[in-house]
Amino acid sequence: MSEPAGVVDVAARAGVSLGTVSNVLNRPERVSPKTRARVLRAIEELGFVRNEAARQLRAGRSRTVGLVVLDVRNPFFTDVAAGVEQTAGASGSSVVLCNSNDDVARERHYLSMLKEQRAFGILITPVGEETAGAIEEIRERGTPVVLVDRGTSRNQCSVSVNDRLGGELAVAHLVAQGHTRIAFVGGPVSIDQVRQRLLGARSAIAAAGLRKDALTVIETPRLDVDAGRASGPRLAAMSARKRPTAAFCANDLLALGLLQDTVRRQLSVPGDLAIVGYDDIDFAAAAAVPLTSVRQPRFQLGRAAMELLLEEATDRETHQHRQVVFEPDLVVRESTTG
Ligand code: RIB
Repeated sequence: MSEPAGVVDVAARAGVSLGTVSNVLNRPERVSPKTRARVLRAIEELGFVRNEAARQLRAGRSRTVGLVVLDVRNPFFTDVAAGVEQTAGASGSSVVLCNSNDDVARERHYLSMLKEQRAFGILITPVGEETAGAIEEIRERGTPVVLVDRGTSRNQCSVSVNDRLGGELAVAHLVAQGHTRIAFVGGPVSIDQVRQRLLGARSAIAAAGLRKDALTVIETPRLDVDAGRASGPRLAAMSARKRPTAAFCANDLLALGLLQDTVRRQLSVPGDLAIVGYDDIDFAAAAAVPLTSVRQPRFQLGRAAMELLLEEATDRETHQHRQVVFEPDLVVRESTTG
């Protein structure tokens, strides 16, 4: 297969200079209609396609934003990405979606790639604190970074949800339904969002005057459906006296996995096990037993993160870093009320 046609081939075919070809591509108003037509005809005949990435690199900064998410299979992140993309598209920017898959090494790889591509900004849900140094270095080199779905005490922009309140809402609801033995299903607890939700759950247990051991923590290796399914046997193996009658799962994927395992055991939801999820993704309402879930404003999270990034990228002198925190709310459905 021959090399793709470049600007040199176009210039030769049209009988003009490289500068004239560049003007036709970038400043067509500077070229006479006759010459412009000749160059455009050469471009069409040769099948020339401009190398936008190279052009943007020569310009020193691309119009590309990197969005690094924990798990691209989780509808939470695709809903966040939709909000990012709507705002980015309106500003003439493109979004490169990167999936760290909960893996720090993968996250580092994408941070390096986005740096090389001269992304004009990065939105990221970090796996943990391991890449905090790399993120700080990128910021010091002038690339804005906004944390998504993650709060921060650092002087940098972030958008998140009050996850501690979310945990409180979930467990207070289960206590109000009469449950006194509740499981928290989620992990790794090293993920800040999970830790905050667990803290909220514990707060609600204390506020209800229940003993600490009223909450059983079932830590999971991931925040996905498989980990939710695998938590079912761990609950079932507990003695009837200690077995929780309700479970608060750190996100909807875990809850859907636990729901499936519970139903497969011919147990009833909520009769034998009430289940609450977190995120309120579309599949929560569509589940075989519609899922009670703590709703996160996913699209708004993405839109707000992109707006902060654009503000920082375009107005560095006056931009003030902000930590935007949304409030969650509880959507009650049959998985807790029957
Ligand atoms: O970002 C960590 C978790 O928070 C994700 O699994 C997502 O579901 C959100 O709830």
